[in-house]
Amino acid sequence: MLVLGLETSCDETAAAVVADDRRVLAQCVAGQDDDHRAYGGVVPEIAARAHVERLDGIIARVMAEAGIGFADLDGVAATAGPGLLGGVMVGLMTGKAIAAVHRLPLMAVNHLEGHALTARLTDRVSFPFLLLLISGGHCQLLAVEGVGRYRRFGTTIDDAAGEAFDKAAKLLGLGYPGGPAIEAAARDGDPRRFALPRPLLGRVGCDFSFSGLKTALVHVVAGFPAEPTEGDRRDLAAGFQAAVADVLADRATGAMARFRLEFPGADTFVVAGGVAANMALRDRLRAVTEAGGFRMVVPPPALCTDNAVMIAWAGIERLAAGLVDGLDASPRARWPLDPAAPFVGGGIGRA
Ligand code: KG4
Ligand code: ZN
Repeated sequence: MLVLGLETSCDETAAAVVADDRRVLAQCVAGQDDDHRAYGGVVPEIAARAHVERLDGIIARVMAEAGIGFADLDGVAATAGPGLLGGVMVGLMTGKAIAAVHRLPLMAVNHLEGHALTARLTDRVSFPFLLLLISGGHCQLLAVEGVGRYRRFGTTIDDAAGEAFDKAAKLLGLGYPGGPAIEAAARDGDPRRFALPRPLLGRVGCDFSFSGLKTALVHVVAGFPAEPTEGDRRDLAAGFQAAVADVLADRATGAMARFRLEFPGADTFVVAGGVAANMALRDRLRAVTEAGGFRMVVPPPALCTDNAVMIAWAGIERLAAGLVDGLDASPRARWPLDPAAPFVGGGIGRA
């Protein structure tokens, strides 16, 4: 079974052809960092236009690389949300056009489900598993019980983890995108020089908060007598990253205890989303995972940040489960994985 996946929900234009035996026949991710750098964040209109300009060429390229024609496909999967609506429309409409012309089933995929199921492609993880989804727009802990079956344990009450990294990097003048810039700067920094808060640490529940940490960083920087030096920036980045690591580790520990009670016998902890590319955070999470008697699974960095392989794979899983969508499927800016979970704010727009 071969599925073409399309991803256009934020600032990556991506396409991939994936087989149900887990072979990635071809994939391509075109970033837009240069288009957005001057603004220090993703500009929705610029992103949508870039997707329109690039998507057709990228699809042609992956089809050629895979050595197949549209008639060889068994389905088309396109991200239908959550994300920036203009971009989502570009990918979903393109997917619908291919599905209609070639009479293929269409899978309108939740971008977050793409992140969530990647570990089943890379590591054959079985249900149920505990998931920490940390990306530019989301920071959630979920019990994943099956395809389309999610129960949220906790979420951010303000900023997403990646958003916090991006804002901190902007504040420290480290450039865009912020996550990799903070990680690089932190490598030679002293995480203990500045005392930064760890919001919600030790509190009951699995929710997150990062805005207080960001505000604390603003105050520390404002208190400098002169512009922070490069050394100061490295120490600030290291302090910030260590605080995020402590918060994630604390919240994940609580979630593991709850997961163990609800799913005795299951012991897999999956970390997914763009922020999972951060090696320092991975190390910290691995330590608490082992302490909690779980095993940690993290997809390789290129499959943690946005890509179309994860969308094609989620499409394969949905097709196999008979979860096919009609050509009337709508793009959705908001689309929680667990619709029963209460809305608590945070994570607007990006996924
Ligand atoms: O999943 P993703 O590619 O896009 C969304 O769906 O949001 O995640 C992007 C986010 C950005 O906020 C970026 O700064 C963050 O992931 N990120 C990182 C790292 N690489 C990407 N954060 C921390 N450390 C990294 N190495
Ligand atoms: Zn994402």
